[in-house]
Amino acid sequence: MRIGILGAGNMADALGTQWTRSGHDVMVSGRTPAKARALAERIGPTARTGTWADVAEFGEVVLVAVHAPAVAEVLSSAGAESGAFRDKVLIDCTNVVAFDRFTLDTPDGSSSMAERITELAPGAHVVKAFNACHESVWRLTPPVFDGRPLVVPLCGDNPDAVATVRSLVTDIGCEPADGGSLERAALLEATTAFMIGLWSKGVDAQAMVPPHEFGDET
Ligand SMILES: NC(=O)c1ccc[n+]([C@@H]2O[C@H](COP(=O)([O-])OP(=O)(O)OC[C@H]3O[C@@H](n4cnc5c(N)ncnc54)[C@H](OP(=O)(O)O)[C@@H]3O)[C@@H](O)[C@H]2O)c1
Repeated sequence: MRIGILGAGNMADALGTQWTRSGHDVMVSGRTPAKARALAERIGPTARTGTWADVAEFGEVVLVAVHAPAVAEVLSSAGAESGAFRDKVLIDCTNVVAFDRFTLDTPDGSSSMAERITELAPGAHVVKAFNACHESVWRLTPPVFDGRPLVVPLCGDNPDAVATVRSLVTDIGCEPADGGSLERAALLEATTAFMIGLWSKGVDAQAMVPPHEFGDET
């Protein structure tokens, strides 16, 4: 699969490296071209770089991996308003955490970054994924803890797009989980902010979740 990555930082590095190892073709783009070139070299000989617009054109799937405040400008530079992402799968891994109080700082009255990205990229099939774990987790080969593969929740409205992202989750040795519609991305973003707040206080947030047999509320 051809995967474009908007961003040349930690998430681009972690996931771009994993997907290249799985046989996908990756193109990265960054604000600082030299950094993007260095990342592509690190990822491997098949990885390439381009402008934001090149990445939008190249990718059947495009990962948004820039800081939340930069998302609107980057998508616009990639040609989002003119339909550059129409019918493409756009993976949103962004978090918009207000780190002084570990709440969400979602822009322009949107309920989530995923919703905002849907507005900014008309026609794109947005799937929220990969936002809930630190980049160091996405570098593990594979991300398995206590013998259990990491479960990666996905929220999206287009079944084909969700199926595509499910396969990219499986490719890195994780287990995809159906997180429901894109509307529910707001819950995933809030849960992540909450967890980051707990981790920052030294709480073992993993221990907060009981085994599955205790999870039925009905
Ligand atoms: N790091 C994590 O553990 C983690 C985990 C889950 C989700 N996320 C989310 O993933 C996204 C990327 O995080 P990251 O850790 O990869 O960040 P990062 O390492 O800081 O990289 C961010 C990328 O965005 C670019 N960028 C920053 N400001 C920009 C602007 N105003 N215009 C254009 N490009 C800009 C950076 O360019 P320069 O290098 O030139 O500054 C860099 O290419 C964020 O939304 C973050 O919340 C991160």
